[in-house]
Formats: sequence, C-alpha cells, structure tokens
Amino acid sequence: MRFHQAPLLLGLAAPVLASSVIPRQTSYDNCPGYAASNVVDDGSRLTADLTLAGTACHLYGQDLEHLKLEVEYQTEDRLHVKIYDAEEQVYQVPESVFPRPSNNSVEPSDSALTFSWTENPFSFKVIRKSNNEVLFDTSAASLIFETQYLRLRTRLPESPHLYGLGEHTDPFQLNATNYTRTMWNRDSYGVPTGSNLYGHHPIYFDHRGATGTHGVFLLSASGMDIQIDNSDGQYLEYNTLGGVIDLYFLAGPSPKEVSVQYSEIAGKAVMQPYWGLGFHQCKYGYRDVFMVAEVVANYSAAGIPLELQTMWTDIDYMNLRQVFTNDPERFPLPLWRQLIDYLHAHQQHYVVMVDPAVAKVDNLAFNNGVDLDIFLKDANGSLNTGVVWPGPTVFPDWFHPSTQEYWSNEFLRFFDKDTGVDIDALWIDMNEAANFCDWPCSDPVGFADEAGNPPPPPPVRNNSGRPIPGFPSGFQPPPTSLNRRSLHSRQLNGTGNWLGLPGRDLINPKYQIANDAGSISNKTIATDVQNYDGTYQYDSHNLYGSMMSIASRNAMLARRPERRPLIITRSTFAGAGAHVGKWLGDNLSLWDHYRTSIANILEFAALFQIPMVGADVCGFGGNTTETLCARWAALGAFYPFYRNHAGIDSIQQEFYIWPTVAEAAKNAIGARYRLLDYIYTHLHRQSTTGLPMLNPLFFHYPEDENTFAIEHQFFFGDDILVSPVTEENSTAVRIYLPNEVFYDFWTHERIQGTGSFINLTDVAFTTIPLHIRGGSIVPFRASSTNTTTELRKQDFVLIIATNATNQATGSLYLDEGDSLTQDATSEISFNYDNGEFTMTGSFGHQTHIVIKNITVLGCGSAGNATATGPISLNEAYSHTF
Ligand SMILES: *[C@@H]1O[C@H](CO)[C@@H](O)[C@H](O)[C@H]1NC(C)=O
Ligand SMILES: *[C@@H]1O[C@H](CO)[C@@H](O)[C@H](O)[C@H]1NC(C)=O
Ligand SMILES: *[C@@H]1O[C@H](CO)[C@@H](O)[C@H](O)[C@H]1NC(C)=O
Ligand SMILES: *[C@@H]1O[C@H](CO)[C@@H](O)[C@H](O)[C@H]1NC(C)=O
Ligand SMILES: *[C@@H]1O[C@H](CO)[C@@H](O)[C@H](O)[C@H]1NC(C)=O
Ligand SMILES: *[C@@H]1O[C@H](CO)[C@@H](O)[C@H](O)[C@H]1NC(C)=O
Ligand SMILES: *[C@@H]1O[C@H](CO)[C@@H](O)[C@H](O)[C@H]1NC(C)=O
Ligand SMILES: *[C@@H]1O[C@H](CO)[C@@H](O)[C@H](O)[C@H]1NC(C)=O
Ligand SMILES: *[C@@H]1O[C@H](CO)[C@@H](O)[C@H](O)[C@H]1NC(C)=O
Ligand SMILES: *[C@@H]1O[C@H](CO)[C@@H](O)[C@H](O)[C@H]1NC(C)=O
Repeated sequence: MRFHQAPLLLGLAAPVLASSVIPRQTSYDNCPGYAASNVVDDGSRLTADLTLAGTACHLYGQDLEHLKLEVEYQTEDRLHVKIYDAEEQVYQVPESVFPRPSNNSVEPSDSALTFSWTENPFSFKVIRKSNNEVLFDTSAASLIFETQYLRLRTRLPESPHLYGLGEHTDPFQLNATNYTRTMWNRDSYGVPTGSNLYGHHPIYFDHRGATGTHGVFLLSASGMDIQIDNSDGQYLEYNTLGGVIDLYFLAGPSPKEVSVQYSEIAGKAVMQPYWGLGFHQCKYGYRDVFMVAEVVANYSAAGIPLELQTMWTDIDYMNLRQVFTNDPERFPLPLWRQLIDYLHAHQQHYVVMVDPAVAKVDNLAFNNGVDLDIFLKDANGSLNTGVVWPGPTVFPDWFHPSTQEYWSNEFLRFFDKDTGVDIDALWIDMNEAANFCDWPCSDPVGFADEAGNPPPPPPVRNNSGRPIPGFPSGFQPPPTSLNRRSLHSRQLNGTGNWLGLPGRDLINPKYQIANDAGSISNKTIATDVQNYDGTYQYDSHNLYGSMMSIASRNAMLARRPERRPLIITRSTFAGAGAHVGKWLGDNLSLWDHYRTSIANILEFAALFQIPMVGADVCGFGGNTTETLCARWAALGAFYPFYRNHAGIDSIQQEFYIWPTVAEAAKNAIGARYRLLDYIYTHLHRQSTTGLPMLNPLFFHYPEDENTFAIEHQFFFGDDILVSPVTEENSTAVRIYLPNEVFYDFWTHERIQGTGSFINLTDVAFTTIPLHIRGGSIVPFRASSTNTTTELRKQDFVLIIATNATNQATGSLYLDEGDSLTQDATSEISFNYDNGEFTMTGSFGHQTHIVIKNITVLGCGSAGNATATGPISLNEAYSHTF
C-alpha cells in the first residue's frame, strides 16, 4: 500500500529519473577482457579457465584474475552459460530461493542452439541452429568481472523487439535507445515510469518476428543497470554490483514456447483456490470493524448483487501498527471474529495484511523473535533497527534456521481458527524490505518521532444505534476454545558456499546503480547487514520479498495443511510465482496507471510466470473519478487477481458508490464469473505446463508486426480479446483485429478481422469491448451468482466460435477447487470440425453439473446452430450439428 511517510516528510519527492547511459567509454577501453584456456569439451558440457588477458583496469574495484566457464546443453531448447570466480566465493543465489533446473545433458547436435566462442579475448555467441541467426554475441565489448562490478554486453539487431526485465511501468516493448533498466527492489509509491520498482525479474524475451523468439534469463540477485542503446551499434548490456554471470538461453522458437521453457527453470506457478478468482475489496482506512462490516453489508444491499467474494483489511487492524496484534478498541477480537464468522457463513472470505518488520516493543511478536534470535543484527551484535509503520522495527532474517519456526508460530498464534483471526488468505507488503528511515538511520527513535510513527489512531467510532444490515446489533462475542496445532516448519538456508567476496565496500560501491531511492542502503535494510548464513544484504537484498513469501506460504500451510494458500505479495524475485501471487503495489488513480497496468499484468503473467497478478482497481493513491473507476472495474475483471483498493487519504471507491460504476462492475463481474472456469482452466494449465493464461497479441500472432508494440489489448486466456477504452471521457477506442474471425462477446456478431486497426464507437461507460476468437470453444457458467460457491452449482453452456475453416477447440478443467492435492479431476477437450462436435478426455471429477446447451457461432451460411442438453460432464460425448 500507501503513502509511505507521514505528511510531515511526505513531499512526494519528484522521482529521480533513471540515469542516462553513463559516459565512460575511455576508461572501459582499458579493460583487457579474458582469455580462455584448458578447454574441456565433452559434447553436452564444455568448461574452460578464463584468465585476465592483460593489465587489470580496476574500474570499480579489483578485476578477478581467474574465472571459470561452464557451458551446458541442458535440454534441446535450453543452453546454460555460467562464468564464475575460480574460488567460488562470489555470491550466488541460494537453491532454497531458486532451485536450479535439472540438466538433461543433451548432445549439441540435438540442441536448437549452438554455443560458439573465441579464445582470446574470450567472447561467445549463441546461435539459433535452424537459421544460423546470432541471438547473443558478447564480442560487442570486453567482459569485465570485478569484485563489485560486472559488465557483459551483447550485440542486438537494429530496432529489437524486447520485453520483460521487470519490474517497471515502462512500455511493454522496451525502448531500444538510451534506455536504462535499473533493478533494485524498493518501496516505490506511485510506480513511476523509468524507475526501479518492487520486483526483480532479469529475463527478457527477444522477439524477431518470423525468424523466432528466444529468452535470456540472468540468474542474479545483484542490483544492476541494464542498458539498451544504439550509440555503439545496437546492444544490451548488463552492469551489476556483483554476483556471477549465470545465463539461461531459451530457444523458443515461439513466444509461448519461451514462456514454457522459462517455467521449467523459474518453477511452475502455484495453483490458486477457485474462490481466489472472485472479486476482492479493500481500502487502507477501514478504521474499525464496523466500517468493514458496513462495506460488506453495502455490497449486499447495493440492489444488484456485486459478488463480493473477499473482504480485506489493511494495517488498520493492528494495535499501533504492530504486526501480530489487534487494536483492542477498533478491532476487538470478539467482534472481529464475529465479522469473519459472518463472512464465512455467507460463503465469503477474509484477508489481512502482514508486514515483515516487527515493532521493537515489549510484545509477543518481538519477544518471541528475540527468544529465537531471528532478527537481523548490526556488526556490533545489536538488533538492526529501521522505521516502518509502528516506529522503530526489527527485521526477520529469513536465512536464520529458526525464522520459519518463528513465523509459523506467530501465524498459528495470531491467526488461530478458534481463538484468533481466522483468515482465508494472506497479503504481504513492505517486503523489499521497506524502511522509512534514510540511510544511515543512526537514530531510528528520533526519526520515528519526527515522522510521527506510529501515526495517532483515528478516533474510535461508536456504533450504538447504527444497525448494519445482516449483522446482529453490537456483534455478540462468539465462544472461544483453545486448540493449538503442531508446528510444521521448513528450514530456509543458503548453500553455505558462495557467501560473497570479502573486503568489499558494501555501502558505497564505486559503481552506482541508478536506484531511485539514492544509495542502495537508503530506505531499506542497510546493505552491510549480515545474514545468519554469513551473506550480506548487499547480495541478498532482492531476495527478501521472495524469502518472506516462501516462509509465509509455509506458515499458512501450517494453519491449514490441506488447502491452497492464496498469498499476494508486493516484492518478488524470479521464481516467486511458484509460491505466491502478486499485486502491482501503490499505483495512483490516474488514467495513465489504468493503461500501464495492462502491460504490467502481461509481464507478470506471460513473461515472469506469476499469473495471479493484478493492479489496484480504480487506483490506490489519489482520488479516482466515476468514469475512471467504471472503466477500471471492467478492465480489472480481466486481471487474474481482481481487487479494488484505495489509499488512506483517498475517497471511498467501492463499486456501489456511483451508479455508473455499479453498473459497469455488475456487467464485468457477471462476465468474469461466467468465465471463471474458463480462466481457472487456463490457470491450471499454466501451473502444469507454463503456457500463459494471459496472452499479449504477439504471442498469438508472432509474425504480425502490427502486434509487437500493442500494450492496451490482450487475450484473457487464449480466446477472449480484451480491448478496453483507454482515454478519459472517451466512448471510442481504436483496436487492432488480427487477420482472423472474431465474435463480439456481448452480441455474438461475427467480425472478420483484417489485420488492421478499427475504431469502436459508442462504448458505454458500463461495458468493455470483448471478442471471442474464432477457432475456440469457450465454457461458460449458464449464469453468474453472488459468490463463487454458488457459481460452482451452476450448469455450463458452451459457445463454439468457428473459424474460417469451420473448426474450433477448447478445454475445461474441473476439480474440487480448494484442496492442495486433488484426487478427482477432469481434463476435458472439446473439438468441433465442420458440424462434428466431440468431447473427450479424463472425467475423474464426477459431477451433477451438466452442459445445458451448445451454441455454434458462424457456422457457414446457416448462421448459428444449437444443441440442447443436458449433456453430462462425466463422460465422453459427441454430436452432429
Ligand atoms: C537519454 O535519456 C536521458 C533521460 O533519461 C535524457 O536526459 C538524455 O537527453 C537522453 N539522451 C539522448 C541522446 O537522447
Ligand atoms: C539446508 O541445510 C541443511 C543442513 O545443512 C541441508 O540438509 C539442506 O539440504 C539445506 N537446504 C537447502 C534448501 O539448501
Ligand atoms: C521510451 O521511449 C519513449 C519514446 O521515445 C519516451 O517517451 C519514453 O520516455 C521512454 N521511456 C523510458 C522509460 O525510457
Ligand atoms: C448468496 O446467495 C446464496 C443463495 O441465494 C445465499 O445463501 C448466500 O447467503 C448469498 N451470499 C451473499 C454473500 O449474499
Ligand atoms: C535517501 O532518500 C531520501 C528521500 O528520497 C533522499 O532525500 C536522500 O538523499 C537519500 N539518501 C541517500 C544516502 O541516498
Ligand atoms: C481526495 O478527496 C478528499 C475528499 O474530498 C480530499 O480531502 C483529498 O484531499 C483528496 N485527495 C487528493 C489527492 O486530491
Ligand atoms: C473529462 O470530463 C470532465 C467532466 O466534464 C472534465 O472535467 C475533464 O477535464 C475531462 N477530461 C478530459 C481529459 O477531457
Ligand atoms: C479512428 O479514429 C482515429 C482517431 O482516434 C482517426 O484518426 C481515424 O481516422 C479513425 N478511423 C476510422 C476508420 O474511422
Ligand atoms: C481453425 O481452428 C482449428 C482448430 O483450432 C485449427 O486447427 C485451424 O488451423 C484453424 N483454421 C484457421 C484458418 O485458422
Ligand atoms: C442456453 O442456455 C442459456 C442459459 O440457460 C440460455 O440463456 C440460452 O438461451 C440457451 N440457448 C439456447 C439456444 O437454448
């Protein structure tokens, strides 16, 4: 969330723009590069020694004399190239955070890629074998491998089509000139463009149209500037603060295949509960349990069911903003528990926020952590102290062997089903880690006092005489009982090796990345703080949010071992999708942020393998407007994670506040809910195969150049083209329709796309342009309902949207929806070919839900055809139209 400083300090400092390409050519010219020797080539694996090939340039530290090269043909479409220090002291990302993929050791002759190299000065190329295209070529500049600086540059073709390198709000297709992408996770209120944001995802997709797409992933947690420019020929250049060069080349050749290949190293996305795809509501500033109850009741009473699936509470519930506590006046436990019981009784869910920083006060959360000794310490052995919401805070050291036990215990205690806050999902924030205190933060107490942390709580409201529909007056306390469960913990640890080079300046490295927060220690945990395993925050900073994510997932599993934990985090490292979902942080209620959210969700879902992603609908900071919120309610219905959330100083923006917004939300939620199994099927597919559940247009039409830069349209699943209106006050939008048959989602009108842009006009504020792609079979629930529980009781209807050859395919995955392990699932394939419909697959999930009817759109001159059910979903079926 939020305004991250008290108004006193606020000043919303104008974001420092990411620096331009740093002028430095002369000094770099003195760097000698390396020479290869002792080459051992056993086919699938090649190793060599790399030795500094001349006088060290010592540009930003000491050049390392001896390196090793390791090249592995790991699979037919994955090549691994690693350059690391011969001593293996330099920091490498621990397996506990990023498990390495298995190496199948294929013969080079079986690989789609070829590694070719030059001995002196050492450089290498990666070539696509099928067409001899050079994909990566480091002869563009000499390799620099220093104690605190690495440089590797590759040549690229002119005007490349590059995507990825998150997290950012820059154009989806990355700028190719004078562009610096800085990566250093930070609390980035307002998500400015040209700035480093919350997550670290050093993978790019290089799309070359008809000749193919490949991916390049640098497995490094180091802070870095990636520069893309054409000042010296077109190139991309990594400039890191350390780490090793650990590159994975993914051959594609289609963009979707690159996604699948990346999922093989980043890990398959974790499956989410069915209900998690429902609509969520939050606001920072729901200041007491009555206000939360009112919002719940208002959604129900809005006259139209708004399908509120899940209610969220921000840090408002905490006592003086301290994690694992509740405000005894505003969120007294008995009333709070009654609110949660109410939600559960109405098939709804409840989520709260947890931050990593623990208040440095005499309370259980702090004392338990001190007892287990799991907080980060300064060099002198005292607790490292920063300032977050409650004032002075300490930070869990995720590398400490007891931290999981601590974290799980706090969850078991505070979120106890019978005596505590029985949350259904979890929201984790401030885990970059954020620290309000400027470096060096030598006086956290003074800083917190001056900043007004913790802020004075809002006045307690008296609810007497204000009946909230559906809630008993005053909320009676429910009975409590004690029920402790045993601890399930998992150790998090580094590998014990690769701890980082000694003797570095961990605070002021000579090479400075263009971090928007200034020095790398500013507004976070100081980079010279040592972790339990001997590593330093300098090297591990970008892992903090992912490590908290992993520990939090384990803690949620300790509470509810059988159920899929829905966890939404702010900070991520590559691979986080295997554990959690992600929201895009503190955006603003601006049309520009509404627009950039589209590229952002595409990046996380399609490129970074974190499909459960969404931006705060209607915007977090600032005040939304009726029309922005109406458009956003509709766009957000096509984010995988769909949540309305506003900041503490923002006006209320629940969908029922304005009639236009309520109408827009009702229409869009209705469409989303009817498509919920369709998107659940795609989420399941991504979690098992890596095929993305959202598709940028070029993923479907990789040879159509018109699609390469499109960033305001996308496919929800494979088959629903979403084309929101993008301009304020406008009811028109210019959209691209590829050369394919489409059907208007709302009217079923057939539209022949011609590979050109068309103008849609009269798009009311209560609707959103959607098209069904010809060639698809889409399963819909026959009607929408007020909760996802009710939705699962609805029958299906099928829409067969035929293409030019009168064919179509589709699929449907069915399971119980919530359990971690499923023993009865159905994976059904639909096929339609010129009048012949078949339904085949596996039918393990026996159900009384049926297909009510099937409609074939656009079948030749005959118009639409229908088949009437009921058609069982428990067995194969065929029908001739
Ligand atoms: C490069 O970008 C920076 C800002 O990001 C700008 O100040 C500078 O003028 C640009 N240089 C060129 C050559 O366009
Ligand atoms: C952590 O350390 C333990 C003990 O040294 C080891 O058994 C375990 O494999 C390590 N786990 C990871 C994920 O590295
Ligand atoms: C990308 O390029 C566009 C057009 O040249 C420019 O307006 C924009 O500021 C650039 N963005 C970044 C983040 O460099
Ligand atoms: C949804 O509708 C069902 C059935 O009509 C009802 O039992 C349930 O309480 C409703 N839930 C909400 C949140 O309105
Ligand atoms: C830390 O951040 C503050 C606020 O953005 C800035 O004023 C200050 O110069 C930064 N300090 C360092 C050391 O970068
Ligand atoms: C939002 O609206 C509220 C209430 O009108 C006002 O107090 C606040 O200053 C506004 N915020 C902004 C950023 O305009
Ligand atoms: C949109 O309409 C509102 C209300 O008429 C007006 O205040 C605003 O300036 C308009 N915005 C634009 C971009 O035209
Ligand atoms: C579509 O709208 C744009 C302006 O938004 C206009 O330039 C263009 O001529 C219109 N095209 C058609 C086919 O109406
Ligand atoms: C029509 O759809 C079928 C099934 O998806 C596909 O195999 C076929 O290539 C498509 N035809 C055209 C012309 O796109
Ligand atoms: C199919 O079922 C849906 C949902 O009950 C209904 O709205 C639609 O009219 C039916 N279509 C046909 C052709 O029977």
